[in-house]
Amino acid sequence: MTEKFTLIFATNNANKVQEIKSVLGNNFEIISLKEAGIDIEIPEPYDTLKENATEKSSVIFRLTNKNCFSEDTGLEVEALHGEPGVKSARYANEYPKFESNIEKLLYNLKDIKNRNAQFRTVISLIINKQEYFFEGICKGKIIDTPKGNEGFGYDPIFVPDGSNKTFAEMPIEEKNKFSHRKKAMQQLILFLSQNKTNFS
Ligand code: IMP
Repeated sequence: MTEKFTLIFATNNANKVQEIKSVLGNNFEIISLKEAGIDIEIPEPYDTLKENATEKSSVIFRLTNKNCFSEDTGLEVEALHGEPGVKSARYANEYPKFESNIEKLLYNLKDIKNRNAQFRTVISLIINKQEYFFEGICKGKIIDTPKGNEGFGYDPIFVPDGSNKTFAEMPIEEKNKFSHRKKAMQQLILFLSQNKTNFS
């Protein structure tokens, strides 16, 4: 492995890019689609996070022939049998604002006492033409009223176990102490570090 190992991150979500870049050590460099000059919307047509993650990394690999990874994340709510899950981005409608998704979720949880939920991230890494998967989970609770202005998505209504603040009340460094995405990314980094002699 050369000094800096470069991977394209197959996402158009600037928040995700910022979060992932904030957990990288000095040995790795992440290039977003925007930075790679790639302007495409990659569909997420499947019923599992794993299949959607594969779709995103495969599309970018076919396009660039370069090492790359993608991630797909869902909010899985216990009382709603894992919903919105893989449909988290499009829960309220096909092109919703984050606020509409939150509104729909809070409506569906009205009068429900069990507020347990988890964020689950699946990463698909394509390196030297092989695919590897990594997963990260953050357990917590859904609150009744959105709080905080940081982050994105369902952050204003999710309080991770071990904190009394929502993700949206935390700066990135604090969210990273709990974050599903960071946990999955840490595994990817460990994997690359342990196998560095095999990759270039
Ligand atoms: P996707 O992985 O881009 O399909 O993300 C699905 C949706 O899950 C996003 O549009 C967000 O609404 C939500 N989401 C993903 N990650 C997070 C997170 O870290 N915090 C809050 N919401 C998230």
